[in-house]
Amino acid sequence: MRLFYEQTGSGKPLVLLHAFPLSGKMWKPQIAKLSEAGFGVITPDLRGFGESHNFSDLNSIEDMAKDIAGLLEDLEIEKAVFCGLSMGGYVLFNFFRLFPEKVSALIFCDTNFAADSEEKRKGRFELIEKIEKDGSKALIENMLPDLISEFTGENQPHLVIEIEKMFSDTTSQAAIAALRGMAERLDHTEILKKINVPTALIFGAEDKITNLETAEKMHALISNSRLYIIKNAGHYSNLEQPAQFNASLSEFLETL
Ligand code: MLT
Repeated sequence: MRLFYEQTGSGKPLVLLHAFPLSGKMWKPQIAKLSEAGFGVITPDLRGFGESHNFSDLNSIEDMAKDIAGLLEDLEIEKAVFCGLSMGGYVLFNFFRLFPEKVSALIFCDTNFAADSEEKRKGRFELIEKIEKDGSKALIENMLPDLISEFTGENQPHLVIEIEKMFSDTTSQAAIAALRGMAERLDHTEILKKINVPTALIFGAEDKITNLETAEKMHALISNSRLYIIKNAGHYSNLEQPAQFNASLSEFLETL
C-alpha cells in the first residue's frame, strides 16, 4: 500500500521507522538536526498509523517492510540509512532480510530481534480484548506506565501528555491489527550474524520492554556494531532524552 510520509532536507536518504502505537511524528525531536547534518530525512507512517489509513484486521510486520520498499521505489531511492525504534526495529529486521541491498547502515533503537514469547503473545491478545472494550484508553492505561522511565514520569509531565495524545490519535483497529502482526512476526536471531553494514544500537537504560540484555546480545552478535545507552530514558529513548539520543545518533552517522 502507498504510505503517507514526510521528507525533510535533500541530502543522503535516512529513513526513520516509528514505534507502536505512534506515527512518523514521534521523530520530531530528531528531524531538524538530521536534515541540518546533511540527510534527507524520510518519516513514513507505517500501515494503519498516522495518515496511512488501512482497514485490515491484521497488519503483518513483513507487509510493513514491503510498504517501505514500495515507498523507496516511488522516491527512486536505491539505498538508504535506516533507523527503527521498537516496532520500527521489527520492521527493519524484516526489511534487511528481504532487501539487504537497499541498506547502507542500520540503527536499531529499543527493539528486539527475537519473536514474541508465548507469554508476550498472550499479553497482546489480552490487550486486544481491552482495546475492543475501551479503545485507546486501554493502550494508555496498560502500556504507557511500562514504556517511560521513572525520570520521565516524574520530571516531564508535558511529554507524558504528548505521548498520551499520540496514543489517542491511533485508531483501535490499527492498534489491534499491528498487535496481531507483532504477535506473529518472525524470529530474526539468524540475521544478526549476517549483518554486514555499520550498525548502531541505541537503548534507554531503563527500557523495560526491550531491555539492555537484548541490546548486549545484539552488540555481541552484530560485527561492526556500536552500542549507545541513553541515561534516564525508558523505551521511547528518542522522545525522553532527545539531546543524548541525537548526540549518539550524530556520533554514529559521522562514522559512515
Ligand atoms: C513499540 O514500542 O513499538 C512496542 O512496544 C513494541 C512491542 O509491543 O513489542
